[in-house]
Amino acid sequence: MASRTDYSSWSREDLIKKVNALEKRKKYGLVWDSVREPEKVVLDCQNELPVLKEIPKNNIQCGKDQITHILIEGDNYHSLSVLNYTHEKCIDLIYIDPPFNTGASDWKYNNNYIDANDAFRHSKWLSFMKNRLILAKRLLTTRGFLICAIDANELFSLGLLLDEIFGESNRVGLVTVIHNPKGRNLSKYFSENSEFMMVYAKDISSALFNDVVIDEDKQATFDLNDDQGKYRLEPFMRVRTSWSRKNKPKCHYPIYVSKDLKDITIDKNPNYYEVFPKTEDGREWAWKNVPGTFVRLNKNGYFVAVAQGKRVEILHKYREKQVFKNVWTNKKYQSEFHGTKVLKNILGENAFEYPKSIHLVEDIIKITSKKDSIILDFFAGSGTTGQAVLGLNKQDGGARQFILCTNNENSICTEVCYPRIQKVIEGYENSKGQDIAGLGGNLKYYRTEFVPASPTDKNKELLTKQSIEMLTLKEGTFEKVTENPSYVIFRNSDKYTGIIFDQLSFAEFKKAVANVNIPISLYIFSLADDDFSDDFADMRGLIKICAIPESILRVYRRIFR
Ligand SMILES: C[S@@+](CC[C@H](N)C(=O)[O-])C[C@H]1O[C@@H](n2cnc3c(N)ncnc32)[C@H](O)[C@@H]1O
Repeated sequence: MASRTDYSSWSREDLIKKVNALEKRKKYGLVWDSVREPEKVVLDCQNELPVLKEIPKNNIQCGKDQITHILIEGDNYHSLSVLNYTHEKCIDLIYIDPPFNTGASDWKYNNNYIDANDAFRHSKWLSFMKNRLILAKRLLTTRGFLICAIDANELFSLGLLLDEIFGESNRVGLVTVIHNPKGRNLSKYFSENSEFMMVYAKDISSALFNDVVIDEDKQATFDLNDDQGKYRLEPFMRVRTSWSRKNKPKCHYPIYVSKDLKDITIDKNPNYYEVFPKTEDGREWAWKNVPGTFVRLNKNGYFVAVAQGKRVEILHKYREKQVFKNVWTNKKYQSEFHGTKVLKNILGENAFEYPKSIHLVEDIIKITSKKDSIILDFFAGSGTTGQAVLGLNKQDGGARQFILCTNNENSICTEVCYPRIQKVIEGYENSKGQDIAGLGGNLKYYRTEFVPASPTDKNKELLTKQSIEMLTLKEGTFEKVTENPSYVIFRNSDKYTGIIFDQLSFAEFKKAVANVNIPISLYIFSLADDDFSDDFADMRGLIKICAIPESILRVYRRIFR
């Protein structure tokens, strides 16, 4: 136990200082030793410029028109630092499955495995997570979600940490997932067969779940389809005491239906059937909506009339949606069958012990993001999130992009994640000898690297090259159009990116883009503070001058001054 401080010899000034410090001390929340052993990668990122180096031989190119996904090999603090200047407020969903800190050497801090004998293992884990979660939060769009898998080892401290970073009011919920129904036979007390997902919104007032159905038995009930998606037909009349004519008089009114049943209206028409909410036994009920709502919904083709013998019945389209419970018991979430076996089927061996169920990640993506969202997993491990994104894009024609970050501990990146993603994109023969078609997509492979801040020619060259890589990544424009020492031009199908290193080349750059008729984002490296908007005033409609991220500019100025 720590010995008590003897204050009797302290001066009045020192005592006042101490009292003030104690007054300011946090009164509620999580407290841990965050300064004892700072993380090396955090210090490195403060002293040098963290960048990404493209590894072209690992890139995968299936087609120019396809989505380019990103895989970053390296420590994720480093990757998140770079993503902070390429993807700030761009990511709709972050799904992570960090090391659970079980005490069984399941993760490394400053290159050392952390086990149960480390008295500071909870402090180290909290510092490790806090540093990364702060960077991660900045990447989220206003409507974005962060979902973190966890088990009972760090559940409580993670909850307090996330409450602190995101704000308790942005806590969306805690989901229990039955991932291993058999449990563990050797457990002394409870045999754990579940783990958790903590769900936070960047801003709860903007974050919405999608109307999707994730349970197959419910999905089967939405058996009809129109241009707005899947639906089923339900009676528009409510038959329940609380919905009797007496209890809901405003919802008891006639609806008029043409003889061919195609036109439905509340405007009286003597040539139409007049339909009241009434059962065959003569009892009077109510429609589900008042006349005003009926008219609004009817404009969008919400109602269908059908003949039932001599009666005409009004049905309405009930669109695909489901209430999501916070205990997920479906067999598809079992990690052994839908995680480990899925991976083994692709790579032919037991390449990684703890992959998540592919369906678990797919369902999370379906509920919380859009079909064109950017989805980040910075503890990507074997790459389940990448496969889930590729699979969903194939299923629904979506244009989601994944960014996976993982270190290469036990070759998890180079021998598991990358080959898995490559096979899923390009196609492969599975462990049963069947040919599985590729799901398509492109991949850019990066490794984390630092540019030192000393002003050598080598560093100048390195910074220039890496800046191009990061700014084209920021813009998503990977096809090179022109490259020379003064400027470079890249493009994709929607836009161009220009990067100018020499102000004397403005005229030449303008000539090079004279025939371009899609937007150009322009970055200009300079030692001065000028934003150069006057120099490009003649191309204002086309060219947008963009600010170079401050962290890149700081090192640029140090190296080039
Ligand atoms: C529990 S696993 C994630 C498994 C993943 N959800 C899947 O389905 O394959 C955590 C992963 O994070 C990686 N990791 C741990 N510390 C990291 C760090 N500082 N930077 C990047 N990756 C890290 C580990 O190598 C491990 O593969």
